Amino acid sequence: MAENEQAKDVGIGYSNWDATQPRKEIGIGMFGRGFMGKAHSNAFKKIGYMYESNYIPKLAAISASSLENAKSAAARYGYEKAYVGWEDMIKDPAVQVFDDVAPDNLHEQPCIDAAKAGKHVVCEKPMTVGRESAKRMLDAVTQAKVKHCVTFNYRFIPAVRLAWELINKGAIGDIVHFYGRYHQEYGLPLDAPLDQVWYQNMSGSAQGLASHMIDQSRFLVGEVKNIMGDIRPYAATRGGKKVVLDDGMRALVEFGNGATGTYESLSVAKGRYNQLYWEIYGTEGSLAWDLEDPTYLKVHLKKTPVEEVVGFTNVSVTHASANHPFMDVWWPSGHNTGWEHGHINLLAHFLDCVANDKDVAPYCATFEDGYKVAVILETLGDASKAGKKMDIIY
Ligand SMILES: NC(=O)c1ccc[n+]([C@@H]2O[C@H](COP(=O)([O-])OP(=O)(O)OC[C@H]3O[C@@H](n4cnc5c(N)ncnc54)[C@H](O)[C@@H]3O)[C@@H](O)[C@H]2O)c1
Repeated sequence: MAENEQAKDVGIGYSNWDATQPRKEIGIGMFGRGFMGKAHSNAFKKIGYMYESNYIPKLAAISASSLENAKSAAARYGYEKAYVGWEDMIKDPAVQVFDDVAPDNLHEQPCIDAAKAGKHVVCEKPMTVGRESAKRMLDAVTQAKVKHCVTFNYRFIPAVRLAWELINKGAIGDIVHFYGRYHQEYGLPLDAPLDQVWYQNMSGSAQGLASHMIDQSRFLVGEVKNIMGDIRPYAATRGGKKVVLDDGMRALVEFGNGATGTYESLSVAKGRYNQLYWEIYGTEGSLAWDLEDPTYLKVHLKKTPVEEVVGFTNVSVTHASANHPFMDVWWPSGHNTGWEHGHINLLAHFLDCVANDKDVAPYCATFEDGYKVAVILETLGDASKAGKKMDIIY
């Protein structure tokens, strides 16, 4: 109980656990059954037994682009009902949380309709493309007074949450600079046909990748004030078709607190399958984190207990005894967690907020954060075309 009382204040995903009482069932309606449908279904199943929570997710319904696909996904993951599209699923009273894991261009209308139907809404990143679309989504969840989140899952990796805690404790002093990149190689070879390049085929934006990194910068450093940069495709045509969406960007930003920043995202970085990487430099210390080695937070503090131990130290963020975030939910010290745990920890936090009427922010990104990231990306596109620095205006 003492541990749970402590967890209540830090957004770890459970509270008020009393094993003698029945757990509140929260019906999940999963919209999509692809990569993220699998990751989120896996998370909801594990939350039920890994988190000592006063709620339990119930896999109420899943939807796919055909009834056959929806039925096979329902059978595989254990959902009670199968639907096509979102229109009927959001009318189902068994669904309390609508989880949109469909492609980017199927986020706006389904999430707005779900909020209007009184469902709490989870939306995969990027929440949408473009400030106008994002504003409509934010207005809908605000007016409906439902809980909402965008699954910027990397906020819920223990090493990233520890970085957030250290920064908020003042351990690295004032932040001077953020460097971040998100690199993949799925845009290669440069002559791959459009339908074989996932982000060109998602009808959204290649900058869905960058959205994760921009969210990390806002989460860890603060609000972005202005941006200048370049965003472009690296091939003019693919398989004889003109390329419309970009493959990468480089940008310089200034934060409201005076820190500077450098952003990069590239979908044609040979050998990088999924690398989100950042470094944060403060006046009293520095931090670095690499999704390709996610357990470790690299920490350099000005004051070290032993004089000779200077420079970055690899901290294995696996110690519940050292109050490392989330580790009392998972394994004994040194037993690593990985990529999937970000999704699990995030969705547990969201369900805790639904069940116990808690705030989703600041730990988890809300539709307001999704809107702000969409505005930053749109402003980058404008700044790239204009060839000049532009202010971020929300
Ligand atoms: N946070 C992360 O770690 C992460 C990783 C990858 C993708 N994403 C995001 O998640 C979203 C989904 O990506 P994915 O990789 O799972 O894509 P995917 O192509 O693997 O799956 C998309 C699913 O949507 C379903 N779908 C399409 N149209 C539908 C309709 N009309 N009705 C019902 N279902 C429909 C498809 O059947 C498919 O199951 C995207 O927004 C993407 O940017 C997030």
